[in-house]
Amino acid sequence: MYTLEQLVNYAKTYGYIYQGSEIYGGLANTYDYGPLGALLKNNIKAAWKKVFCNDEDNVMLDSSILLNPLVWKASGHLDNFSDPLIECKACNQRFRADKIISDFDPTVNTDQMNFLAMEDYIASHHLHCPACGKNNFEHIRSFNMMFQTTQGVVKESGNEIFLRPETAQGIFINFKNILRTTRKKIPFGVCQYGKAFRNEITPGNFIFRTREFEQMELEFFCAPGSEVQWFNYYREKMVNFLINLGIKKTNIQVYDHPKEGLAHYSNATTDLEFNFPWGFDELWGIASRRDFDLNAHAKASGTELNYLDPESNEKYVPYVVEPSLGVERLLLSLLFNGLEDYIVDNEVRTVLHLHPFLAPYKATILPLSKKELGPTAKKIYHSLQELYEVAYDDAGSIGKRYRRSDAIGTPLAITIDFETLNDKCVTVRYRDDMSQKRVKISQLKKIIGALVKL
Ligand code: GAP
Repeated sequence: MYTLEQLVNYAKTYGYIYQGSEIYGGLANTYDYGPLGALLKNNIKAAWKKVFCNDEDNVMLDSSILLNPLVWKASGHLDNFSDPLIECKACNQRFRADKIISDFDPTVNTDQMNFLAMEDYIASHHLHCPACGKNNFEHIRSFNMMFQTTQGVVKESGNEIFLRPETAQGIFINFKNILRTTRKKIPFGVCQYGKAFRNEITPGNFIFRTREFEQMELEFFCAPGSEVQWFNYYREKMVNFLINLGIKKTNIQVYDHPKEGLAHYSNATTDLEFNFPWGFDELWGIASRRDFDLNAHAKASGTELNYLDPESNEKYVPYVVEPSLGVERLLLSLLFNGLEDYIVDNEVRTVLHLHPFLAPYKATILPLSKKELGPTAKKIYHSLQELYEVAYDDAGSIGKRYRRSDAIGTPLAITIDFETLNDKCVTVRYRDDMSQKRVKISQLKKIIGALVKL
């Protein structure tokens, strides 16, 4: 597996991910997604939408990033969405106290500890500042992670609003609208992807933890009593989704949170962890949240958020099962999972093994001669481009062009040679095993179509 440093270099070299605001010296922990990264992100969201929305009886939502601040009061984010911040008196750097403890001993359950218990643990185990190595900390403080801003032109109190730290609340507050306009029956789910913002104390590990990121969240509404069945259903579906996308089984670990560590409203929570170079770490979470969220918003807004079962005539507040995944975390996992360097003829051949559905380009069109074969190659390119993202490359030796196509994860390389003008055939070369076959130009769309099936 690539090291983190190798992967950062790879992502920058090929146009997957750039440092944010680079020409101004950068802005720490922000990243821009280049031509390939932008396509890959879109394909990740499309794959998730296909499997978790289209394949099921679920619907999509696109709610605002800016919500009435009362939403965050009701959801508990204003009061509780905070991390334990500890500052080193020697170097003034700030850290998450729970991270300092779990980095020292991953078996300690910091969810069970209050600030005093964490301070005691840090002192009694002589834990040091991760930056300067001294052991001289301030008291732990609660640090709310929501980004605050002001709405309107006048800066006065009462105008403060927040950038959403998760997409989920937009779904809960639209529950009644969705129910009314879709006439869905319980059980059904609402899917949403979009940006979320968290003022993380310790962002890092490249795009693993950033302050601006995208989430793909599903809130699945079901009848009380059926939530465990749905939790297990989606937990399994999540694992299968990752494996179907090509993530190796050995790179996935399923962590079921122990009952005593669960939030008071949850009766089951599981993290799917990926094998990052720094160890297994959270990729995707699923929580059974009972009726906590709908009840909280019903109480605070004065709007009934319940459901009348048309068959039993029973009225109830639905229970919720919530799988929640970060787009960038999945993207990072796919890069670590798929990148391989092979030595071929004393040269490094880099290959990104990506599922064809996800690959930014499905094929690269390669004319062996720019001049004589260019017009035919361009015709093939434009015809395929109508259905699929394809690339065109006529610069450099064919070997170099193959290598670039493999390195960015393009599953097919289509070579147009002089024979093509007579037999209307091209050579298709497969990225993963480098096998080649001669096929009719008219078959290309079908071949790509079969390959990109999810
Ligand atoms: N609504 C539930 C929720 O937001 P979460 O565990 O806080 O749950 C869900 O976040 C997922 O969002 C995580 O599993 C991770 O994939 C992604 N995520 C969370 N914070 C992130 C951050 N700072 N940077 C990148 N991705 C993040």
